Amino acid sequence: MLLNRVEYALMNNPIRAAIQRHFEAPRLLRMGGALSGGRALEIGCGRGIGIELILERFGADTVDAFDLDPRMVARARARLSAYGPRVRVWVGDAGAISAADATYDAVFDFGIIHHVPAWRGPLAEVHRVLKPNGRFYAEEVLSRFLLHPITRRLLEHPRDDRFGAAEFARELVASGLDPLATEELWGSFAWFTAQKPAAS
Ligand SMILES: C[S@@+](CC[C@H](N)C(=O)[O-])C[C@H]1O[C@@H](n2cnc3c(N)ncnc32)[C@H](O)[C@@H]1O
Repeated sequence: MLLNRVEYALMNNPIRAAIQRHFEAPRLLRMGGALSGGRALEIGCGRGIGIELILERFGADTVDAFDLDPRMVARARARLSAYGPRVRVWVGDAGAISAADATYDAVFDFGIIHHVPAWRGPLAEVHRVLKPNGRFYAEEVLSRFLLHPITRRLLEHPRDDRFGAAEFARELVASGLDPLATEELWGSFAWFTAQKPAAS
C-alpha cells in the first residue's frame, strides 16, 4: 500500500534519516552483526537512506533494492547514483520479489512489511531469495501503534490482520527462518534478526 501524504512527508524528512542512521541501524547491527561483503536486498527502500547504511555500516558489496512507489525509486536512484553498479533500484512488490531463489546474503526491511495487506507473503519471499545462512534484518511497526486512534487519523495502513512482535517472530519460524534476536519498544515498534538455515 502506498503512503498517504502525511507519511510520505515523514519518510522524506531529515528526522526519519537521523532515526535510521543513529537508532535503527546500530540496533540491527548489534542484533545481527555485520556482513562480510556479499549481496544484499532492501525491500521497500523508500528514498534510499537504508541502502547507504547497508553499504557503509553493514558492509555489503552490492545492494539491490525496490519500492512499490515510483517516486521513491526515482529519489533513491538520484541519491545513490555515485555508487554506480554497486546499487540497483527498481519498482517492485515485496509480495513477489523479482529475484531467483537463494540470491542474497542478507535482506533488510526498514518498516515496510506492515504496509502489506497479506504481510506473510513477503516473509516467505525473503526466505526464498536468501542464500542458506543468509540473514534477515527487520524493523517493524506493530498493531498497537497502527490501530491507535491518532495513528489511524493521520496515517493510512491496512487494518485487518496486523501483527504484534510475538506473531511476527512466529511467522519468521513458519517461513523457515531461525530467529536470532527480537527487541521491542513500547509494544509499538520491534526489531528482528533471523537466519536461513544452512542447506541440509
Ligand atoms: C514507512 S515507508 C519506509 C521507507 C524506508 N524503508 C524508510 O525506512 O524510510 C514504507 C515504504 O514501503 C513501500 N511499500 C509499501 N508497500 C510495498 C510493497 N508491497 N512492496 C514494496 N514496497 C512497498 C512504500 O512505498 C514506502 O516507501
